[in-house]
Amino acid sequence: MGSKSDWPTMKFAADILKKLGVKIDTKIVSAHRTPKRMYDFSSKAKKNNIAVIIAGAGGSAHLPGMIASLTEIPVIGVPIKSKSLNGLDSLLSIVQMPKGIPVGTVAIGKTGAANAGLFAASIIATYNSEVADKLISYRRKQTKKVKQKPR
Ligand code: RP5
Repeated sequence: MGSKSDWPTMKFAADILKKLGVKIDTKIVSAHRTPKRMYDFSSKAKKNNIAVIIAGAGGSAHLPGMIASLTEIPVIGVPIKSKSLNGLDSLLSIVQMPKGIPVGTVAIGKTGAANAGLFAASIIATYNSEVADKLISYRRKQTKKVKQKPR
């Protein structure tokens, strides 16, 4: 994430991934405040056996796109709800990547962060059967919780 202030949102991605048994690492990497850290993290990500990167950023939100430009690992961008524009700025910035460097973009805020966690887990589930089983049981439980009638 681009800032410590993104953590209350990004925590939702971390919580889901932990629940699904996916090993995670959480980092503050700012594209404009710590560009060297961003470069080092992204360019070494593959060597460090990272499978998917979830990048949360707010405002001009260039972090996900910049990371994606430095690695072929799938990058999922989470638009953080900004104070002045409620995250619309973050969403448009992350989703409008020019052709050639994709960033998978989810909804603004906590819902998006949780879905980013599920999306990352489903990528990992394509080759990890333990995560695949946990994802199936997560979905089954979710289905069971939906009542047939409103009351
Ligand atoms: C972005 O600027 C961060 O991702 C954060 O969402 C936003 C505001 O950062 P702080 O001023 O709260 O550190 O880089």
